Amino acid sequence: MRIITVPDYAAMSRVAADLVSAEVAHSPRSVLGLATGSTPEGLYAELVARVRMGTLNLSFVTTFNLDEYIGLPEEHETSYHFFMRRHLFDHVQVREYHIPNGNAPDLLAECRRYDGLIAEIGGIDLQILGIGRNGHIGFNEPGSPFGEGTRIVNLTPDTIAANARFFASPDQVPRQALSMGIKTIMRARSIVLLASGEGKAQAVAGMIKGPVTEALPASVLRLHPDATLIVDEDAASLLTREELTSA
Ligand code: GLP
Repeated sequence: MRIITVPDYAAMSRVAADLVSAEVAHSPRSVLGLATGSTPEGLYAELVARVRMGTLNLSFVTTFNLDEYIGLPEEHETSYHFFMRRHLFDHVQVREYHIPNGNAPDLLAECRRYDGLIAEIGGIDLQILGIGRNGHIGFNEPGSPFGEGTRIVNLTPDTIAANARFFASPDQVPRQALSMGIKTIMRARSIVLLASGEGKAQAVAGMIKGPVTEALPASVLRLHPDATLIVDEDAASLLTREELTSA
């Protein structure tokens, strides 16, 4: 896994935007995998700024988001549909964007439809990921099988507590979500994982120097041929310089 250590959140966001810009400059019709959460907000702000400046064109790009809560209306301000509109799609034009439908009448069929769409378009070129404090990617919680595609997941108490900050109270956080599975994520041609802040230090250290295990889903990225971690100093604080350079 390639590791890029940067001083802080702003630098992480700029470096991530540089990688996305390079991908899109190389193939304007790229397929991007997108993430939600606080981590990629700075990346999206950078992309919006670059589109406005005229140095980036996303209008031929297709995007697929990682996940969505089950049972939350799309217009609810904590849904990932709402998040993506607020941070990206209300500001820049893409060719087409896709987000799993957490209100589909048949959720299993929705999972198959989503993986089918990704396969049909030829797969994801560049997948952006954040990391949960427990090492989850997308909503693939510890214990998620490496071999599964898009799926229905039960959120762990840890994730519900972490995400409660976006809701009026913890009991309003949905207990389930649809998430691209680890197999879907690993099929992306390249993957960029962003990690910022002390709260992520333990998960990042486990991912880099612990075993590759379903108990820490992000560790699977060490098996990917083109995965990059962009990590700021706080999130890298439990790793030595040697561990950061030899991974
Ligand atoms: C959520 C999302 C993940 C995200 C994680 C970390 O649970 N499903 O895709 O990576 O939280 O979020 P944050 O970036 O806010 O720390």
